[in-house]
Amino acid sequence: MAIRNIRTEEDEVLRKRCREITEMTPKLATLIDDMLETMYEANGVGLAAPQVGILKRVVVIDVGDGPYILINPVILETDGSQTGGEGCLSLPGKTATVTRPNYVKVRALGRDMKEYELEGTELLARAICHECDHLDGVLYTDKAESPVMDTEEYYETYQAQDEE
Ligand code: NI
Repeated sequence: MAIRNIRTEEDEVLRKRCREITEMTPKLATLIDDMLETMYEANGVGLAAPQVGILKRVVVIDVGDGPYILINPVILETDGSQTGGEGCLSLPGKTATVTRPNYVKVRALGRDMKEYELEGTELLARAICHECDHLDGVLYTDKAESPVMDTEEYYETYQAQDEE
């Protein structure tokens, strides 16, 4: 396994639409392993292939109960909403407010290329939506309802408001 270079906001690759995956290959297996290692090393809860420069529809997620590998993910159902701070490894140190569904059901292929469904609420639901957006070239900043701020400043500002 190897740590890959995480592409940042200004990189055009983050704005492209990713291609469907048709088969598991040694190259794809290595990509998935590397994405997991890269995500953990960066203390992230999710990473999408375009963030390491690969335009393929695969994401990895671990909010503490994973990891989940989602190949060709399709969101089937959403319910409710949650509004809160969101960040991205491609915009290090930044946070903004984004509203996401509070419940998501997604269908995807796993590492074994077998179809499965994953349901998530709260942070997992947010991560699924965020990572699936990456596969279509969408960044959370496109959906931000607050200025994109330094993370520390963001939480000082918005937690202070919540406490009032
Ligand atoms: Ni991201």
